[in-house]
Amino acid sequence: MATPDLGLIHRFLPGAPGLPVLLLLHGTGGDEHDLLPLGEALLPGAPRLSPRGKVLENGMPRFFRRLAEGVFDLDDLRNRTHELADFLEAADKAYGLNGRKPVAVGFSNGANIAASLLLLRPGVLGGALLIRPMVPFVPESLPDLGGVLVQINAGQADPLVPPPQSEALAQLLGDAGASVRLHWVSGGHALTPEDLDAGKAWFGFSSLSPHAGRPPW
Ligand code: MLT
Repeated sequence: MATPDLGLIHRFLPGAPGLPVLLLLHGTGGDEHDLLPLGEALLPGAPRLSPRGKVLENGMPRFFRRLAEGVFDLDDLRNRTHELADFLEAADKAYGLNGRKPVAVGFSNGANIAASLLLLRPGVLGGALLIRPMVPFVPESLPDLGGVLVQINAGQADPLVPPPQSEALAQLLGDAGASVRLHWVSGGHALTPEDLDAGKAWFGFSSLSPHAGRPPW
């Protein structure tokens, strides 16, 4: 089947109807192919929806513009966040997802737009595994994230995201009502095998998986 034009270049790989749809959001310089293997490893058989960020920084795809490292163009972030939410609504119809709320798996820049999606368009995501996110912005009023499950994988030695940023994001999302788990991995900003283990454990224990047990937190 030809990929429908939903506003963002993307790949969609259908999976088992009983599993949540994984929304895979790559880091700066990545693309729609990058996180497909991670998604399959995290929750085997889950449908995977993987868009490519539209913004180019020196030829590298991103999900929104930044003015400098860690300094975001907030107008662009807002607009791109709504664009991504609209893409998800279009994908729901195009791929017959029946209103199942996707679970975001975002790395770095992808984790930042996923966090922005939680704050600006609550109700769109059912959960999020945020790998090395920052606080994208602090909203004037808190959204209602009741029932949303979030895991933050933060790097103990991340040179881009100091520990207080990860703690502040966990606090912000928790204050908004999300069930947040802040998990520390021993590495820096790059993905490590520990991220996969911690992500698998989160999916296994959370109610996002049909094999759900009692969440460990
Ligand atoms: C961002 O711009 O979203 C963060 O600095 C992470 C990155 O992409 O390097």
